[in-house]
Amino acid sequence: MIAMQEDKAAHEPARQLDHRYDGVAKVTGRAKYAAEFPVKNIAYGYIVTAAIPAGEVASIDQSAASRAAGVYNILTPFNAPKVTVSGNVNILQDTTVYFSGQPIAVIVARSLPEAEQAAKLLRITYKEQPAKLDFTALVNEARPPRRGGENRRGNPEASLAKAAAVIEQTYSTPIENHNPMEPHATIASWDGDKLEVHDATQGISQTQGTLARTFGIPAANVHVINPYVGGGFGCKGYVWSHTVLACMAAKVAGRPVKIALDRGQMFGPVGSRPNTLQHIKLAAAADGKLLLQQHESICYTSFIQDWVEGAANPTTLLYASESLSADHKVVPLNLGMGTWMRAPGEATGSFGLEVAMDELAEKLNMDPVQLRIINNAEADPRQGRPWSSKHVLECYKQAADRFGWSKRSAQPGQHREGDQLIGYGMATANYGAGRSPSSAVVRIQPNGRVFVGIGTQDIGTGTYTIVAQAAAQALGMDPALVDVQLGDTSLPRSGGSGGSTTAASVCPAVYDAAVAAKLKLTQLAVADPKSPFHGANANDLDTRDGQLYLKSTMARAGSDPESITALIARNGGDAIEATATSQMPADRDTFTSHSWGAVFAEVAVDAHTHMVLVRRVVATYDIGNLINKKTGTNQLSGGIVWGIGMALHEEAHIDPTYGRTINENFAEYHVPVNADVHEIDVTCLNIPDYKFNPLGARGIGEIGITGVAAAISNAVYNATGKRVRDLPITLDKLMA
Ligand code: MOS
Repeated sequence: MIAMQEDKAAHEPARQLDHRYDGVAKVTGRAKYAAEFPVKNIAYGYIVTAAIPAGEVASIDQSAASRAAGVYNILTPFNAPKVTVSGNVNILQDTTVYFSGQPIAVIVARSLPEAEQAAKLLRITYKEQPAKLDFTALVNEARPPRRGGENRRGNPEASLAKAAAVIEQTYSTPIENHNPMEPHATIASWDGDKLEVHDATQGISQTQGTLARTFGIPAANVHVINPYVGGGFGCKGYVWSHTVLACMAAKVAGRPVKIALDRGQMFGPVGSRPNTLQHIKLAAAADGKLLLQQHESICYTSFIQDWVEGAANPTTLLYASESLSADHKVVPLNLGMGTWMRAPGEATGSFGLEVAMDELAEKLNMDPVQLRIINNAEADPRQGRPWSSKHVLECYKQAADRFGWSKRSAQPGQHREGDQLIGYGMATANYGAGRSPSSAVVRIQPNGRVFVGIGTQDIGTGTYTIVAQAAAQALGMDPALVDVQLGDTSLPRSGGSGGSTTAASVCPAVYDAAVAAKLKLTQLAVADPKSPFHGANANDLDTRDGQLYLKSTMARAGSDPESITALIARNGGDAIEATATSQMPADRDTFTSHSWGAVFAEVAVDAHTHMVLVRRVVATYDIGNLINKKTGTNQLSGGIVWGIGMALHEEAHIDPTYGRTINENFAEYHVPVNADVHEIDVTCLNIPDYKFNPLGARGIGEIGITGVAAAISNAVYNATGKRVRDLPITLDKLMA
């Protein structure tokens, strides 16, 4: 790994693309999403789902459906090909029904309407079993998850005995469902034992690996293509049943098959954020120092596999305290699987803990910001490791100043503007920083442009843009002259777009590949008798704006400059290509990398209707270097918008008898619209974290949502004196 921070001195500061690389393609409709690829001879798959929440499919009579117009094939648990189950997807390998909405058949037809019509003609009988659907009624059956343990430190009893203030409360968050603009979709085509898949995914390599294992073919035989993704947020980080079923159906039908989910199918069979019931106890000394933090979170899980919404995890490192326990339990229900949803654990856990901190501050008669400053963890409380870089105290200060926190009245209900009760609240934001190894290829083209190929994907976050910048930075060129290809498993392998790891993983690989290509280029120059740099040391040369120059003197080649295009033209005219794989730092187990932020919210609550309006959110983040201002701050403010939805709107309602999501549409599953979103002020400290990676940049995909719901809930309390500990904060709860 060539360290960017050392090398940077040789160049002017990295140039940013001030527009999204993929922006024009997206707004003009040229960007093709998975379901939009024209594939010859294509058939349409429609997934039939279980109508009962628990039991077995007893029989499926497909005679009428088979005779329906346009029907090619029908796959059921009774006739589907046997495959290797890789992951716990419902792919017609057995007749067990785990939840209502589980795929139990696929109709393959000439058109989607014909497939849907035939689905109605299937005669399905079930052996029903009693379903477990009521979380509240079953919560005392909660058990520890099969994986993942408990976190303990200190001596809770001894710490509690010294406490001057104790708060103990229960906080809860509902089931939420991912709804990216682009629903899941897969087009599968077989050519012998070679499989080509257009799949809306956050991880082309993961899709490739899962399909290879499922169908028992080498990974090299699976080609996944996915140049644009209309949002991921975690749901496209897992290979769900429709992807496998499209491939299975294409095999059986002997032609390409497309399965594209509709909006209603986004609720249930493709994961959700489980609800949480969080029991929190905080004890502090009179000076505000936390003595004890106890956080137990219980969530639902499916009967298919244990999946835990890790709400208590962030509590283990957010604040210093001499004693701590953080545990999770699950209540198995006949619902679809839980899965990652933006900041899984941190989004929900920061609601519970950060409202509890607000309650503790009030009990201590202390400013909520001050309480957090006092309890700042100067090292990772879990094992005492130093942080690679942590500047949360500056975040509190900067955001508080921009917000005007000093004008807050500590006493609730004091600030009134006509019928509007105004309240201020704040919370800490946090999310981990991780990265994974990644490879990339860079080609310096004979025409002077540069091509970068990397097997990652842009899920709408700005990966194309920052990949172009990373190559441009290494080569000292305008990022507008870089062409980027992503979303294809024929490119060098990279990781999934999840866990806020993409930028931190991808950019170092691209940078290194560009540096390697540059070295080949300079080697060409020093070996070329016609080059003004003939005989020089290749390592002494660098490039800027399409020209070669000597680093020592900053000199270009006198009056007759050596351009990259001329050098390549004289030497065979082929592109100069290099591939590189970024490596993890050798000392990565000696420190913890984590991102931080401070979120402040102002709400106006109507004294009569109890309508809550989030007037302002002001947030400052410590996320290392902000690689691109537009895409980066857009990610952060997008997270804040989701936080507003989490606070006030989002909630899946489960039918207590049939176990289906009742509000499986945007009319009834509420997300924030423009009328709900007012001023959002996002700033970043922009302090590089070079210990973490050579970019000095940590990922930012998830931190934006964290802390927001707590800041809003705390602001609602400050406005009204009513503590709503159960999300979303709806009118009925404020009226109660
Ligand atoms: Mo994120 S929930 O890791 O896509």
